[in-house]
Parts: sequence; structure tokens; C-alpha cells
Amino acid sequence: MKIDYLKNCEYIDGFLGYPNDVLVELEKEHKSDRVNIQPNIGLQAAHLLKIMLLLTNAKRVLEIGTCIGYSSIFIGEFLKMTGGKLTTIEIDKRFIPEITANIKAAGLKDSIEVINQDAATVVDNLPPGYDLILLDANKPLYLKIRERLVDLLRVGGVIVADDTLFKPMGAKERLADPMDKYNTLVFKDKRLQNTILPIGDGITLSIKTSE
Ligand SMILES: C[S@@+](CC[C@H](N)C(=O)[O-])C[C@H]1O[C@@H](n2cnc3c(N)ncnc32)[C@H](O)[C@@H]1O
Repeated sequence: MKIDYLKNCEYIDGFLGYPNDVLVELEKEHKSDRVNIQPNIGLQAAHLLKIMLLLTNAKRVLEIGTCIGYSSIFIGEFLKMTGGKLTTIEIDKRFIPEITANIKAAGLKDSIEVINQDAATVVDNLPPGYDLILLDANKPLYLKIRERLVDLLRVGGVIVADDTLFKPMGAKERLADPMDKYNTLVFKDKRLQNTILPIGDGITLSIKTSE
């Protein structure tokens, strides 16, 4: 039987939903012809995050790459089930008023902290012990901070990295190569066990099994 990827997605999406009305508006914003925002992680990846947050009973979560807050608000909503908090880092100051307003409208301002700086410098000053880290930013950054993110993760914690199938998808070299290198490095890292899922533009899941 032939696999119809789009039909499968339609079927899966039929079961998934938006746990906060603000997310419905943000999805529209992402699907609009607005040019200054990058793609969000998508509905299926957001719900994969829910499962990972529950499996890790996440209390401390770190996100690299906030954009206008789509994935942050999903995470913030799901963290109501574990009592956890999210720290999200966004380098682009133009997004900050919008992120702040969206998080406030979603009723999540007490559980999401937004840091407006370059994640490459912020991660060096964060205390370790994260249960889950979502990596969804500039592609060369993945390689720059990968080692530090593993240090920041507790044993049993998970790194969820987005866009990691750029290479087989035929994305431009400057995007595909760092993603391919990222996958190669995590699969070589003795502290991690990994897999790659064909959700959205690819999700690499890495669980830390030792220090
Ligand atoms: C793909 S978007 C994030 C989408 C978001 N995770 C979502 O699903 O709604 C990537 C974001 O990472 C931000 N970014 C890029 N480089 C960064 C860096 N060095 N530190 C922090 N944020 C960065 C960009 O400004 C952009 O808003």
C-alpha cells in the first residue's frame, strides 16, 4: 500500500487541537502572508512536545528561538499538567513586545520567562538541570551550543531539535549542512540516545542517559 503523507497528516491533525485560543490566532498569523516571521514548529511537533513534557514530568524547560510565541504558548499550556516553567530565548528585539502581549493574552505570564539576548551567550550562564530543551533557531547555532545544551540537560532529560531533515529534503546547503552535522554529532555523543522523526521538517529527539 502506498503511503499518502498529506492524507496521514490530515488524519493526525484531526485529533490534535489548540489548547489556548491565542494559538488559533498565532496559527493564522503564521499562515498569513506576513514576511518577517519564520515558520513555527507545527501542530504535530507541538503535540509531540506534550508527550515529551509529560514523560519527563518537566518542571524546567528551555526554548531557543521564540519568534512570536507559538511553541512557547503550547509548552506553557502543557506545563500546567506538570507544574513546570519555561525560559525562552529570542535574539530579535522586534518580536519582544508581540511575544509579551501574546503570552499575557494566553494567561501564561507567570510560567514563561522571555530572555531577549543571543542564546549563544545566555546558555553559558544558565544553571543545569533542564528536563526538556527545544532547539528551534538559527541553524549554525545548533552546532555552536549543542555541547552546552547537553551539559544543561539532566540525565533522563530530552533535547527536541526542529528542522533536522533539511538535508534529505534538499534545503539550501547553508541550512542543510549544519542540520546534517548536528545529527551526526548527537548520534556520536556517548551521553545520548537518539532518533529522528519525520514530523514537519524533521525532529531529532535526544535523551540524556549519562553525564
Ligand atoms: C523558527 S523561529 C522559532 C519558532 C518558534 N519556536 C515556534 O515554533 O513558534 C526561529 C527564531 O529563532 C530566533 N533566533 C535566531 N538566532 C537566535 C539566537 N542566536 N538566539 C536566540 N534566538 C535566535 C529567530 O529570531 C527566530 O525568531
